[in-house]
Amino acid sequence: MTNSYFPRPVDVKINMATGELDSPDSAYDRKLSQMYTMYEDQEAAQKLLGADPVIYKVYEKKLPELPGELQWCMSVTLPGKVGREYYMTKGHYHSVRETAEIYLCVAGEGYMLMETEQGDVEIKEMRPNTCVYVPAYWAHRSINTGGEPLISFCVYPGHAGHDYGSIETKGFKKRVVEIDGKPVIIDV
Ligand code: F6R
Ligand code: MN
Repeated sequence: MTNSYFPRPVDVKINMATGELDSPDSAYDRKLSQMYTMYEDQEAAQKLLGADPVIYKVYEKKLPELPGELQWCMSVTLPGKVGREYYMTKGHYHSVRETAEIYLCVAGEGYMLMETEQGDVEIKEMRPNTCVYVPAYWAHRSINTGGEPLISFCVYPGHAGHDYGSIETKGFKKRVVEIDGKPVIIDV
């Protein structure tokens, strides 16, 4: 090596039933107040804001944000709905668009909604042991349609970064809502 950067191995224990890490470098809760504008039913969202429920949690191990390295985390989307729309993550593109991600679902049920800036949309079911590959250039959002937390192990390039702004502004072209007790994918 010609510089002082030299990564060290890291290990961590994961509780696959809860998504918790034994020694996370970062753990955060995303509450409704931080994303309520993303839901279809603003009246329902306003009513829930007093209680301000946690919609999802992320447990991370911070690794070097460099090409060649990997970042990884546990993503835990809680069960629930805002109006008829299921709890979901904010969703994002990677700042470096040419970076992909792998999600391995370990518990729960739901969907991975993916979309490109050109307007292509794909949605894949998430069930325990389902591995979804999110290619480079695809925005992605997890949606929990079940009664238990939807838990995934996520791995992505170290330098990927997160661009939330585009989705905050434009949203996704599809939503997943409950109709007659079942999840239905609808156009926005
Ligand atoms: C990382 C990634 C996931 C999400 C997590 C929370 O690139 O895709 O770990 O960060 O599921 O969702 P967002 O980041 O959309 O709030
Ligand atoms: Mn990502």
